[in-house]
Amino acid sequence: MAKHWADFQYEIYLGGMGGAVPRLPADLTRLEELAEHRLGAGPVGYVAGSAGDGSTARANRAALERHRIVPRLLRDVSERDLSVEVLGRALPAPVALAPVGVLSIVHPEAESAAAQAAAAAQGVPYILSSASSTPMEQVAEVLGDAERWFQLYWAKDREVTRSFLERAKASGYSVLVVTLDTPLLGWRPRDLERAYLPFLHGVGTANYFSDPAFRAGLAKPVHEDPNAAVLHFAGMFGDPGKTWPDLAFLREHWGGPIVLKGVLHPDDARLAADAGMDGVVVSNHGGRQVAGGVAAADALPQVARAVGDRLTVLFDSGIRTGDDVFKALALGAEAVLLGRPYVYGLALDGRAGVEHVIRCLLAEFDLTLALSGHRTPASVGPDSLVGGAG
Ligand code: FNR
Repeated sequence: MAKHWADFQYEIYLGGMGGAVPRLPADLTRLEELAEHRLGAGPVGYVAGSAGDGSTARANRAALERHRIVPRLLRDVSERDLSVEVLGRALPAPVALAPVGVLSIVHPEAESAAAQAAAAAQGVPYILSSASSTPMEQVAEVLGDAERWFQLYWAKDREVTRSFLERAKASGYSVLVVTLDTPLLGWRPRDLERAYLPFLHGVGTANYFSDPAFRAGLAKPVHEDPNAAVLHFAGMFGDPGKTWPDLAFLREHWGGPIVLKGVLHPDDARLAADAGMDGVVVSNHGGRQVAGGVAAADALPQVARAVGDRLTVLFDSGIRTGDDVFKALALGAEAVLLGRPYVYGLALDGRAGVEHVIRCLLAEFDLTLALSGHRTPASVGPDSLVGGAG
């Protein structure tokens, strides 16, 4: 029998015979609470916190909860294959690690550890954030040939953007994920109440501070005047003035696939297709930007119906467990991005913690597929669920 992701459960049970139990929960929804206890108030507030009173983040979970899986029986699920092709890339499963910035606030090995864990999980793509605490070249180096994508925060400064794209290309990042929902930072009370923003201390600015075009705009080297460097960063990080025609600049400077992250309205998805983009990520940034916003899972079916035949539709915001992955596929996503859970895994147990989280998620997804009567992600569809109209 071929090796299945689900076999992780036997590994765990066999380990138990030797007296070992997993260091982290197998129910990934419990990670947040553990992290709340073990991490400092600033970092955990930054990771777990959301916009406003947290209503969008709660809605993300509630929408996924509302949909219920209807299993089918007697369909020979003894051999299963989770691999998918997304944006021309062969992936071991319909999952990638979402771009999450400033990981050094939760663990000293930060992005390198998370990236290595993704690579160790048969090459689950790692999406490196523009706001990483480790320069993109350094992460690329620890990844070797493993699959990596680059997330762009589209800076006001054209030369810096151009330079980021060149550096990403040169370091083997294959897909460009452009996050459009963060031209300004959302209203985040947990951070505001502690006046906690790592970037202002030069944490999460590694790609900028190491960038030749960024440095060219400084009067003195970063180490001689770090405050000026932080101010220069803050002045260019977001650009609320951008409009759809500006995408031509990215198309011109990036030959590979481009995916727009943060799309929630079907008309924006259509505009993305018209602008020559390759995909969208239906996402509300984990509820961190607009409070009172639509749940990402509620926006997904309409976007998939609008552009599913023209664009690759990806999804994040609320994925916690294997059955959530199943539900997102049933609602029209081709693959999902996993966000906070892997960050909690990193915070609690470094690279091993991220590996644990990925393996649990994929084992549970594999079992959900099998126990619902599916051998591959492709056969999961709207009729696999009930409860959408709530
Ligand atoms: C994020 N996210 C994010 N997105 C992005 O495009 N660039 C980034 O640098 C970050 N940084 C970031 C930091 C932290 C602490 C979090 C929690 C999230 C958003 C991320 O990619 C993804 O959209 C959300 O994490 C999805 O929501 P859930 O499933 O994690 O709740």
